Amino acid sequence: MTRRSTDEARPPEPVWRGVQRCVDEYIGIKPGQRIGIVAAATESKPARWLRLAAQEAGAEIVGDEELSHLTLYQVLESADTIVFVDGQHSRNGSEVVDALATGKISADIFRLFDAGPEVFELCFAVPASYLRELNRRIIALGVSTRAARVTSEGGTDLEIGFETRFGWIDSCGRYDGRRPGVLPPSEVATFSLSVNGVFFADGSLNTNFAFPHDPRLEAYPVRVEIEDSVIQTVHCENPFIDAVVGGFVAEGAGSRVGEVGFGTNTGIRRFVPFTSHINERYPALHIGLGSQNQGDRVGWNYPLHLDLIANNCSIMFDETVVMEQGRYVIGHVPDPQRAPETGYVDTV
Ligand SMILES: [Fe+2]
Repeated sequence: MTRRSTDEARPPEPVWRGVQRCVDEYIGIKPGQRIGIVAAATESKPARWLRLAAQEAGAEIVGDEELSHLTLYQVLESADTIVFVDGQHSRNGSEVVDALATGKISADIFRLFDAGPEVFELCFAVPASYLRELNRRIIALGVSTRAARVTSEGGTDLEIGFETRFGWIDSCGRYDGRRPGVLPPSEVATFSLSVNGVFFADGSLNTNFAFPHDPRLEAYPVRVEIEDSVIQTVHCENPFIDAVVGGFVAEGAGSRVGEVGFGTNTGIRRFVPFTSHINERYPALHIGLGSQNQGDRVGWNYPLHLDLIANNCSIMFDETVVMEQGRYVIGHVPDPQRAPETGYVDTV
């Protein structure tokens, strides 16, 4: 068998640039570091791209492509950095969290979800420093904001009260020593018991359960009425989506707003036609129904999560314009009074 040249192993240029930025800036590979890249067979191609970019950055690759349970621990103990390359869900999340709890793992750990050409092309198109600063500014303003107002030409008119007892989540792909850094970047999110008004989701859906349909909503937006963070009505012209969202809110805590999320990845310029964290990171408001992101601070939880994602919306935090028709315009704001939380509830 002839060995493929480096060029043949590379994806097309916009994708490759994203792979390189993912490795260099987000994972932060330095020459001489030992990196383990753990992937299922379905993600073997993006894992190869990551290995190639890591090698070009001067890293040493540790472990094989597919790791057994035993070698997972060996790699965890012998590498400086581990990247788990996943589809929509973690395959070994609890094992990794258990391993971290032993205190014996010194590696930096990352999870890359939805690995594929789209994730690299769209989600790693802007520098890590830019997105991290954008997240910092939104959270800094958010912690001292009384209420957000969200509007759109499609008909969104929503007031979201912020309370200091609920934390903010800064999801920007950073490893904090307790839970893996989650990629793709980036969003900020909080929780509110006072979401009121009309939300017109004309961007996309995202779900943490199987959804066998194009989730994009431009052709048939979902309109919901919300009262005190509970969905009152659902309407969508597409009968399948109407039935899925209507059925979701009719059961358990599916009618509750568990997340007020702001996608902040300004490199994402289009929605992808499959359920994906890519769509949730799109720069817009998204309302997550079902599972909540505050742990014990809230007296309920739910295993299922359904995100309704807007497209062109405008967002004010009190009197400050944060987003104008889909573009973040937030200027300089002071450092947050308290450190934001990190991590993400359903993607450990
Ligand atoms: Fe979210």
